[in-house]
Amino acid sequence: MKKYLVIGNPIEHSLSPKLHNYWLDKNKIDGNYDKKLLTERKIGEFLKSNQNISGINVTVPFKKTILNYCTELTELASSSQSVNTIVLSNDKIIGDNTDIYGFEQSLKDLNFDGLNKTAFILGAGGVVSSVVIALNNLGVKKIVISNRTKNKAEALAKEYNLVVSDWGKTVDFDIVINCTSIGLKSNDKLGLDFSNIKNKIFYDIIYRPKTKFLIGAEGLGNQIIDGKMMFLYQAQKSFEIWHGIKPEINEEVTNLLND
Ligand code: ATR
Repeated sequence: MKKYLVIGNPIEHSLSPKLHNYWLDKNKIDGNYDKKLLTERKIGEFLKSNQNISGINVTVPFKKTILNYCTELTELASSSQSVNTIVLSNDKIIGDNTDIYGFEQSLKDLNFDGLNKTAFILGAGGVVSSVVIALNNLGVKKIVISNRTKNKAEALAKEYNLVVSDWGKTVDFDIVINCTSIGLKSNDKLGLDFSNIKNKIFYDIIYRPKTKFLIGAEGLGNQIIDGKMMFLYQAQKSFEIWHGIKPEINEEVTNLLND
């Protein structure tokens, strides 16, 4: 039986095992997908002592740290400097990125057209480079980034040609994407004033619970998108990379995330 797992910290909340085990079962693949809580110090040791694992998903906060342990990177992993999918074969540790596909596909589903559009990104954590690359693929004209710790936004701005805005201020945008972790806890508040904004797109990478950011935007008549489809598409792509089969995303699969 082939072994797969997701590593992160925290990891308890991860729905990846449920989803991948469902698809493994549906596709009659002899495999098992587990989760493992790790600390940064333990990553190297874990990889050395678990050479019977065939694939790993990497989540917060290791998507960048893991680059140091990969023996090879795909072009997407290299351009984003972010790895969420690893293929282990022989002595190779190949880092790949399916977050870019996940984010891009979730917007393509909704016929999003980036032409002449401005995107406003909140946050500068591990997922942002993937979001930026996907937005560029979708043809957006301008990307503005804002983060509490400004130098992290500035570093990304330099790398990907973005405009930096001070944290707490809002700018003109067609789509705003919350890439911060604010909203994971139910009393979390972003503290940005979007009260005059209508008919725009509000996207939250977080898929559970529905964030105040999305609830407020919806109340004002904006289109809202949560992180569910991005999560499903990145998982679908990882599955395809490991097993050579594109698993189906249907209502039954989407419902797995709701229970
Ligand atoms: P990483 O990938 O770096 O481990 P992450 O959890 O993906 O981190 O990202 C956390 C993001 O949420 C960061 O942009 C963080 O801002 P800082 O860079 O200033 O830390 C942002 N964030 C988390 N809590 C926040 C808060 N209370 N106010 C503002 N931004 C916050």
